[in-house]
Amino acid sequence: MKISKRTLQLKPSPTLAITAKALELKAQGKDIISLSAGEPDFDTPLSIKEAAEEAIKEGFTKYTAVPGILELRKAISRKTLHEKNINYEPNEIIVTCGAKHAIYNFFQCTLNARDEVLIPSPYWVSYPPMVSLAEGTPIIVQLQEKDNFKITPEILKKNISNKTKILVLVSPSNPTGSLYTQEELEKLIPLIREKNLFVLCDDIYESLIYDNKEPAHLLKIDPTLKSQLIHVSGVSKSFAMTGWRIGWACGPHNIIETMGHLQSQSTSNPNSIAQKAALFGITHDIPELEKMKKTFEKRRDFVCDRLSRIKNISFVKPQGAFFVFVNISSFSKDSVFFSQFMLEKAGLAFVPGKEFGLDGYIRMSFANSFEELNEALNRFEKALSTHFIDIK
Ligand SMILES: Cc1ncc(COP(=O)(O)O)c(C=O)c1O
Repeated sequence: MKISKRTLQLKPSPTLAITAKALELKAQGKDIISLSAGEPDFDTPLSIKEAAEEAIKEGFTKYTAVPGILELRKAISRKTLHEKNINYEPNEIIVTCGAKHAIYNFFQCTLNARDEVLIPSPYWVSYPPMVSLAEGTPIIVQLQEKDNFKITPEILKKNISNKTKILVLVSPSNPTGSLYTQEELEKLIPLIREKNLFVLCDDIYESLIYDNKEPAHLLKIDPTLKSQLIHVSGVSKSFAMTGWRIGWACGPHNIIETMGHLQSQSTSNPNSIAQKAALFGITHDIPELEKMKKTFEKRRDFVCDRLSRIKNISFVKPQGAFFVFVNISSFSKDSVFFSQFMLEKAGLAFVPGKEFGLDGYIRMSFANSFEELNEALNRFEKALSTHFIDIK
C-alpha cells in the first residue's frame, strides 16, 4: 500500500526526535544533558493527580460530550473572562486533546486550498505542516533579532496578499520567549482590521510570563476583535500536564461548532479523566504553580547571566516560556551541524534553529535543574573556546 501524498512529506516533530536521540544516548551510558525539552520538568501538582484518581473511582471513565464536559467549558469561560475581560459562551469553547489538536482542527476547519497563513519565524515547528495538511500555504514571515523577534506593522504589511486569511500570533513565543506589549499589539490592529485577517492567538505559554509583567492580549485591547480571532490555550505548560493532553480553543461559534464536528468524526471527546483533572486545576488555587513560575524565572536569569558572559554569541532575553534562542552564527551558520557537534563533543542536546525556520541559532530549554544548567553552561562555554578557537 502506498502512503498518501498528503502525509508523505510529513517528518516527525524535530523537537521530540532530538529529545528521543538524547534519551537513546543516555540509555547507552553516555553523559548527556538535554536542553531540548519542550515541557516543564516539574511534576503535575498532587492535588490535580488526586482529582484524576477521584474521577476514576467515581467511574467517570466513559465518553463525554465531544467538545468537553460543560463544567470544564464553563470554567474556561470564567477563566477567560477573568484574564482577558471577554465573555465566551460554552458553545464558543471546545476542549481538545492538547493545544496542538485545537490548532490542527482550526486549520482543517478554516482553510481552503491555497489560502495563505502568515507564520512569523522563528516559529513553533508544527504550524507549517499543519497548514499544508489543510491544503493551505504557509507564508513564513522572517523576523529579526534586532526587532526582538516580533512582527511589526511594516513587516506584516509586506507579507499580506489577496490570499492571506490567517495570522499566527504567539506570545510568549516558542522558541524565542518574546512577549508582545500592549503598544505593539495596538499597532497591529489597524492592519488586522483593514485586511480582515483572522488571528490565531496561541496563548499556550500565557501563564509563564516573568518580571511581573501584565500579559497583553488583542482581546483586552479591542473586545470587538472577538469575531476575527481564536484564542488557544491549555494546561500542558501552565499546569505541568503535557501528558494529559488537554487544551482548548475559544472562538466564533460557527468555527468552534465545526471543530466539534471534526472532533466527533476523529478523536471524539478528550480523555474524560484528564478533563476532570484540568477542571480541578483551573478552578483551584494550586500553590505549586507559582513556585514553578518563580523557579523558571530564576533559571532564566541564571542562564541569561551565564550566556551574556560568553563572547561571540547573542540572544534576546526571554520574557516568558522556558527557552532562550541563542545566536551561534559566528561559530557556525549551520545549526544542525552545530547541534550534532555539541551532542558529540560536549554531551549537550539542543534543538537547531533551522527546525524553527532560522539557521545560525539554537534553542536552549531551561526546563532543567540549576545543577544541570550550570554543568551544561560550563560544557557549552568550554566547547566553544576549545573547538571553535579559530574565530576568537
Ligand atoms: C507554541 C506552542 N503551541 C502549542 C503547543 C502544543 O501544546 P500541547 O502540548 O497542549 O498540545 C506547543 C507545545 O510545545 C507550543 O510550543
